[in-house]
Amino acid sequence: MANLDILDLPSYLDHTPESGARVRELKQRPVVLEIDQLSREFAGPTGRLVALDEISCQVRHREFVSVIGPSGCGKSTLIRILAGLDYPSSGSVRLDGKPIVGFGSDRGMVFQGYTLFPWLTVKKNVMFGLRMKGTGSRQAEAQAREWLKIVGLLDFENAYPNQLSGGMKQRVAIARALANEPRILLMDEPFGALDAQTRGSMQSHLLKVWDSVDVTVLFITHDLDEATFLSDRIVVLGANPGRIVEVIDVPLPRPRSPELFMSGHFLATKKRLEHLIYNHETPMKHPSANLHSRAA
Ligand SMILES: Nc1ncnc2c1ncn2[C@@H]1O[C@H](COP(=O)(O)OP(=O)(O)OP(=O)(O)O)[C@@H](O)[C@H]1O
Ligand SMILES: [Mg+2]
Repeated sequence: MANLDILDLPSYLDHTPESGARVRELKQRPVVLEIDQLSREFAGPTGRLVALDEISCQVRHREFVSVIGPSGCGKSTLIRILAGLDYPSSGSVRLDGKPIVGFGSDRGMVFQGYTLFPWLTVKKNVMFGLRMKGTGSRQAEAQAREWLKIVGLLDFENAYPNQLSGGMKQRVAIARALANEPRILLMDEPFGALDAQTRGSMQSHLLKVWDSVDVTVLFITHDLDEATFLSDRIVVLGANPGRIVEVIDVPLPRPRSPELFMSGHFLATKKRLEHLIYNHETPMKHPSANLHSRAA
């Protein structure tokens, strides 16, 4: 971990004029995802385990929100509930005002493990969800090719997953998730298995794709640089029980480029995240994740 204490940094609450204007604009947008007092308990080895404790958060249209926190703080549990793969013990999750129950094509998912079907070509992987929805074969093929063009892999439409690099596989997974035109893209450490260089180029690639598609993103990561570079807001969770510690409006303008990694606002945000995650600050209960920074 770099020692950021020796640098004279701005406050992470101080926005650039552009990022401040964006924060204000985002707060005017309609809410797409609403998480309300969400709790999830499991039977742990030594008794009741509170994986998520009264999490409340709203994500707005075309916002990019990351969730970050130490291992075991409930990040995957949260995204599994949103995906319909698990369920709350109490509280509710709503997409466009409707309760989330089970799996639905209104949510696209990209996880860390490569989840492509190895026996299908790249194009057929992307067509899969469309065919399941009943889209005709010709139309599904045309749409799959469009999505492959967007993620830069049209030349590989007839390749099989084992002929692709890790980064390329995740680009296909993104195309496959977006092909169903979901309202929200749920990503659980999608670049966690990639080397640092590929990871960096995937981050820039994802921002470019997101900019050209009407989709809201909820992104789980361990990586402080990744969360800061990608997000409009970062929800920081603490562990045992999994609670929201703080929500940060990222004080960086868009579009973003890797030069931002050295900017004062970037480093100040990273320093705050390091403090929250590694100094084990006692989590406080917040009534809502819509906390305000000085930009509000
Ligand atoms: N099905 C389950 N049954 C029992 N306990 C579970 C179950 N799923 C998750 N847990 C527990 O809930 C807690 C949160 O797990 P979760 O996988 O959500 O953490 P995470 O933040 O995603 O961790 P990581 O960063 O390591 O991926 C952990 O203590 C885990 O052991
Ligand atoms: Mg996890």
